[in-house]
Order: sequence, then C-alpha cells, then structure tokens
Amino acid sequence: MLRRQFVNLCTNALRQRWSPALLTEICPIRFKYTQFKGVKGIRNRKNMFESNKMQNNDDEDEENTSFNHGINLEDRDYEEVANTAMNLSHNQNIEQHIFVLQPYIKWGAKKSTSNPDLQLKEAEALVHSLPNWHVQLSMKVPLESLEKRILFGTGKLEELKKIVTKGRSGTKPLTALFISKGTLSFAQKRTLESEFGIPVLDRYSVVIQILRLHATTAEARLQVAMAEIPYIWGQMKDANLSMSRKQGYALSDIQKEMLKTREKKLKDELEKIRSHRKLIRSKRKQKNFPIVAVVGYTNAGKTSLIKALTNEQTMQPRDQLFATLDVTAHAGMLPCNLEVIYMDTVGFMSDLPTGLIECFIATLEDAMMADVIIHVQDLSHESWMEQRIHVEKTLESLAGNLSHIENLTMPPIINVGNKTDLISNLPTENLDESLKMVSSKTFTGIHELVDDVEKKVLETTGRKKITMRVKNGGPETPWLYKNAAVVNARADPKNEESILIDVIITDSKMQQFKHYFCKK
Ligand code: GTP
Repeated sequence: MLRRQFVNLCTNALRQRWSPALLTEICPIRFKYTQFKGVKGIRNRKNMFESNKMQNNDDEDEENTSFNHGINLEDRDYEEVANTAMNLSHNQNIEQHIFVLQPYIKWGAKKSTSNPDLQLKEAEALVHSLPNWHVQLSMKVPLESLEKRILFGTGKLEELKKIVTKGRSGTKPLTALFISKGTLSFAQKRTLESEFGIPVLDRYSVVIQILRLHATTAEARLQVAMAEIPYIWGQMKDANLSMSRKQGYALSDIQKEMLKTREKKLKDELEKIRSHRKLIRSKRKQKNFPIVAVVGYTNAGKTSLIKALTNEQTMQPRDQLFATLDVTAHAGMLPCNLEVIYMDTVGFMSDLPTGLIECFIATLEDAMMADVIIHVQDLSHESWMEQRIHVEKTLESLAGNLSHIENLTMPPIINVGNKTDLISNLPTENLDESLKMVSSKTFTGIHELVDDVEKKVLETTGRKKITMRVKNGGPETPWLYKNAAVVNARADPKNEESILIDVIITDSKMQQFKHYFCKK
C-alpha cells in the first residue's frame, strides 16, 4: 500500500514537472529513506538543570527527571505522511535556498493591521533560525484576499513566476517558496506548487521545522509531535475536498488509523506530563520556593535575563527564534536572602495557529501558576509594542483556557524593557511608566529589577520580613532555617541566652511556628 502511494507521489510530482533530482534535493525523505537520521542538532545539549544548584537535591532530581514515554516518535510511516503534508524533511543538513513572500492586504475591511515590512523581517528571521536554510530572495506582496486558491492576481503571478524561474537557474537554485501566512490550504499549496515548480511552505510548517530542531527533551519532542497532527488532519480534509481535481494527497485508511492512534497516544502522554508538572509544582509549593515565570515574545531575551538575575553561567542565550522549548527552572537569590525559582518559558509569536500554541499548554500552565510573571520585551525591536500586545493577549486567553483550575488568577506582571544597550533614544511613545528598563547584556537596571521582584514576591506570597528573638541553641533556629528564609542572625544585646533572627516568613509558617513554639 505504502509502495503504491510512494509511486503515486512520484508520478504526480513528475506530472507537475518537477524533476526527480530536484525533488530528491528538496524533499529527500520521500526518496531516500536511508538518509533518515531523526532529529538532529542539539539533542545532546547539556540540560540546563544539570548545573542548577538548588539547595535541595531531591527537588533537583525531581525537576531533572526526563519524561519517559512509549511512543516511537521516529516512525517512518508517520514521517512520510507528516513530511508530505508539511513539505518538510527531518534531515536538517539539506541546504535550502528560500524565496520568502510576505502577503498582506492593502485595502478594504480586511486590511492587514500589522506592518508588512516587519512581518517580512520576522519571516526572514524564521528562515535564519534554521541551519543550512538561506533567504535567497524576499519581498512583500499586496493582495486582495488571502483566501483565493491562487493567492495572486494574473499579473502578479506571472511576475513572480519569472522571478522564481530566474531564481531556479542561479548558482544556488531556489529550493522552496515560503509564503508567510499562518496556514495555507492544501489546495493553495498544490496549485502554487504546480505554478512555480518548487515546494511551497507556510508559517506553520516552517515553525514546526524550527521546533523539531530545538526539541531536545522527551517532553518538548512530544509537544512538537502533537503540534504536527492538527496540521496534517487539516491538510488531509482539504485534500479530500479537492480530490476530484486529482491533486495527489490523500491518506489511506491505514494511514488515517495510524494518525488517530498516534494522536491518542500523544494526548495521553501529554496528559501524563501535565500531571507530572502538577506534582512538581505542588512539591515546589511544599518547599516554599516562590516562583517567578519569565515570559515574552520569542528572542526578547528571556534566557539572558534569567542568566543576569541568577548569574548562572551555563545558560546559553541564542539569537534564534524558539530556542527554548522546555520550561526550565533556575534558582536565584533575592536581596533578602530568599531563594526564588525563575522559570524560562517558550516564546510567543504572532500569526501562529492556536493549535500550535495549545500543544505547549502543559508548559505554559507553569507560567500561569507562578507567583509573579516577568514579561520581557525587546525594546530594540521596531515592533516591540505589537509584540507586547500579542503576548498580553495570549496570556489573557491562556488564563481563560485554564479558568477551570481552582483559585487560578493571573499572577501580577512586572513589565521589563530589555536590550536598552542597543538603543540610543528610548521610545517615549506609549511608554508605560512602570516598565523597568534593563540590559541583560550590560546588567544595567538588573539590581533595581531584583528589588522590584523581591517587593512583588513578598507582597503576593504574603511573606513578611520580621525579627524574632529565639533561645540560643534551641529548636526554633533549625526550624526557621528549614521553613523560612533566614536573612541574618545575631547576638541579642539584651539577653545573652537568646539570639535575634531576621526572617522572611509566610503567614501560614508563622502560625505553625507559634503552634510549635509559643504554646504557653
Ligand atoms: P527564545 O527562547 O528563542 O524565545 O529567546 P529568548 O527570549 O530566551 O532570548 P535569548 O535570551 O535567547 O536572547 C536572544 C538574543 O538576544 C541573544 O542573541 C542574546 O544575546 C540577545 N540579547 C538578550 N538580551 C540582550 C540585551 O540586553 N542586549 C543585547 N545587546 N542583546 C541581548
């Protein structure tokens, strides 16, 4: 059955005037299974947890536990289906020379609200995030509608075809056309592919390729695998509708069954991850560590900020989109000696279908359940305000999605304007007075930010800073060290038999202390 489909695929491709040589180059997975080597790249990257010296080793082990699952994520039958739907290959070594097209609606009710120049730059940045992928050409194209089967009018289509034909005969021939729209329908892709003679990619599939590359842990790989499924179903449904036109992509019953089984297994595993994360969260709560989640648009500097806040040298910020796909925890110390956990999270990006975001819900739940959120914004980015609004909207909708969780309210947010070292004139327009200006690179503003974090953490977790007089050598001191943050301990000038201890303590722990030690 598979062999027949494979032959059909080749025949269809040839019918569409693609040479096998070109096809092998652009999508070798369909032709050379022997080249398949799985997700490549940074799989062996040292897990950030490994160097995270938390005080409590048990906790650390729990945080570091990699999630084991029984799904074969590198199933070849699945790979064939997925890569055909997305026009992708798992082989990250293949050189790709991409023509990036940014469509936008210039007139009418559906006029694009985002700046197309900035969107084009973001699309180029997506391509640059992939090793061996190069932007050969790029341009924005005004359109009447994004829904037409051939997106472009006749004149524009001819103009673009000439550009592509020229690009294909250059020394580094174009290998694919990336139309920077969330999702293209199956019919749109196939029609455009037959017009241009090269594979057509949309934003969803390019982002999936980046996520595949950066998914290094079992958890992240499961989430990315899950993110692929709605896209494949969507394309298949679309293909079924246009089957009468013999466009060449339909799933056999066996393949549909395989997809359904995979989807179900992934859902079950992701649910297990959710429960596992819940367990870790409640353990953290028991240990009394306040949690500060660091969120923001992709590449805003979340990892860099945590590195600056914790001085954790092993953290490696990278100038890549979606570099962080796992929630990682990093211990930091507040000026009052209270230990906090900073959570690094997955970056947000606009124009991504919700199905893609939803797969990271287990990860994002951690952020929504933190005590405080730091929202990092890249002030040097031309569209930082649009990015900020996008992140705020996404957080709001996440809070809506998680409203079933008991007592969940959006944590207080500290807005941080990062990368101030890159700008000579700080933006004044729409500038929120509470925005904390920092540079994670030069450490400007970091001390002030830590003070703000401390204030917010103490406020929201109901912790108080108090001085207690306890018996020297009594059981109170070790109890306080275990259950509160001891800032300072000194001799009591009024009584030789007691000492003074400055502690940060929650109301509930204070009640416990009274219960154990102040009965009389
Ligand atoms: P994702 O995980 O991909 O969402 O990225 P991120 O938000 O964690 O950003 P990351 O910390 O990886 O930084 C992205 C790029 O911005 C890296 O090249 C950093 O070196 C750079 N960067 C971060 N903060 C600053 C800053 O304050 N100044 C300058 N000049 N560069 C910065």
